[in-house]
Amino acid sequence: ENKKVAVIVGSLRKESFNRKIANEMIRLAPKNLQLKIVEIKDLGFFNEDIEKSPPQEWTDFKNEIKNSDAVLFVSPEYNRTLPGVLKNAMEIGSRPPKENSWKGKPGAIATVSPSAIGGLGANHNIRDAAMSLDIPMMQQPAAYIGGVKDRLLEDAITVNEATEKFITDFMIAFEKWIQRF
Ligand code: FNR
Repeated sequence: ENKKVAVIVGSLRKESFNRKIANEMIRLAPKNLQLKIVEIKDLGFFNEDIEKSPPQEWTDFKNEIKNSDAVLFVSPEYNRTLPGVLKNAMEIGSRPPKENSWKGKPGAIATVSPSAIGGLGANHNIRDAAMSLDIPMMQQPAAYIGGVKDRLLEDAITVNEATEKFITDFMIAFEKWIQRF
């Protein structure tokens, strides 16, 4: 069965490693998964004062999430936790409480870093934040993608064979997870 997956990238950087890995996850996913990066860079800061008449960007973002069957977070670690821009997008999608766009969407997390630890702190904090959003999160396999500079080939787009295998297996497991809901 075909499933739509909203991919949220937690970095706004043009040459983001996370975006590159997200694109590889899209390329290597089972063919029945239709993955699409949902952009967060134009959302602005969440503010309760304006949620009753939200900006168009918020409404569009919420609709993209609502119209997806699942969500995939691909994020760097900032100061051992998740980037503010990602948390901000989580807030915007979650409000108002009766219109939590994330509710019940099966999810998965990959953290990507040049460091060997692979964004473990951010990975677990995203998991933590997702509890309140009511996202049933795949637990295993976990994806702490460390040493990312050594994983990319000379084209700076494609990952090496070992990483390709890892990502392929991760996406197969995620597809199975999604089908359970
Ligand atoms: C970082 N970086 C970083 N890396 C890490 O593994 N753990 C960390 O706690 C941090 N902290 C941190 C804070 C801030 C403010 C910045 C800007 C960076 C390094 C980070 O992993 C690196 O810049 C990545 O390349 C960011 O991901 P993208 O933008 O390449 O996807």
